[in-house]
Amino acid sequence: MTQIRVELGEHSYPILVQPGALARAATHLQEFASNNRLFVLTDNHVGSNLLPILQHAFAESGIDLIVSSLPAGEASKSWQRLETVTDWLLAQGVERSDTLVALGGGVIGDLTGFAAAIVKRGCGFVQIPTSLLAQVDSSVGGKTAINSSVGKNLIGSFNQPRFVLIDPLVLNSLPDRELRAGYAEVVKYGLINDAVFFAWCEANSKQILDRDPDALSEAIVHSVRAKALIVGEDEKELSGRRALLNLGHTFGHALEAETGFSDKLVHGEAVAAGMALAFGYSVRRGHCDAEDAERVRAHLESVDLPYNLTTASVRASGQRLVDHMMHDKKMSGGSLPFLLANGIGHTFLAKDVDLEDVAAFLDEAA
Ligand code: GLY
Repeated sequence: MTQIRVELGEHSYPILVQPGALARAATHLQEFASNNRLFVLTDNHVGSNLLPILQHAFAESGIDLIVSSLPAGEASKSWQRLETVTDWLLAQGVERSDTLVALGGGVIGDLTGFAAAIVKRGCGFVQIPTSLLAQVDSSVGGKTAINSSVGKNLIGSFNQPRFVLIDPLVLNSLPDRELRAGYAEVVKYGLINDAVFFAWCEANSKQILDRDPDALSEAIVHSVRAKALIVGEDEKELSGRRALLNLGHTFGHALEAETGFSDKLVHGEAVAAGMALAFGYSVRRGHCDAEDAERVRAHLESVDLPYNLTTASVRASGQRLVDHMMHDKKMSGGSLPFLLANGIGHTFLAKDVDLEDVAAFLDEAA
């Protein structure tokens, strides 16, 4: 069992990583059950596998779980679903002293966190992330959002959970593709500022993707520690520190937009290709040795993650992809900051990137 703390003054909170923690959830969550109840939001995929474990954990606890199960998928991050959820909470008599529990992946976590931010002007929430991507990234750090017709995650708030409970065993039922996509975000922490961890990933990726419990737990703990540290330094992405977590996301966003944010290319896959492109572009600009970019590409290929436009199944001109980037929410003052690298473990924020040059690079990188 490992406990990690996100240090944010009065908004600080613990993250528990423990194989089997879901089955012991009543012990971990009882302090949040004011009025002897918790409001659980989940989706119909996760709910059928993991909700019974949560319900069993609370069976003898004297705490009621009031559950709403939403349709699985990105479409649930909508105004309409948010309204359904908040109406349901109000109809159940939710109070500000109550706590919502997000049992699911990033969609459930983002929607629940945002509902918790606004219902009755804010109640508490805890995260029980059930995908690798949610465990190592989206459940930590308090970014909550729904999508708008203009783009993804454009309506939301920073709202920190009170507790994050991570059970690596729940990943046993995660489809292989989702596990690999989440692994891209694990690799990201090595590429950002930890070359030793990247080398560890190279040596241990097979065990992680084979769901070896020790390797998986180590990957999760290391990633969560790295994220907790960065979020503690720059909660609201103001100093440039938290922006490092967006490595691969600007190129990746363009690929996701081109594939319609669909199952053709899921978020973690887009981030994988985006990171390889960010390293390739860093070589073009003279920041990074070609051997480092090749090492990144080779590692992503070795775990069957996309590493360029072809392997991401994207056929589009560089200009078209740059047009997608212009709608990225990271646009600031008419320009787009890019995460580039001086090498593995040495990512930096570049604010002087010429988008015509990016378009030319993408035409060559296809
Ligand atoms: N996923 C990027 C962040 O939480 O800042």
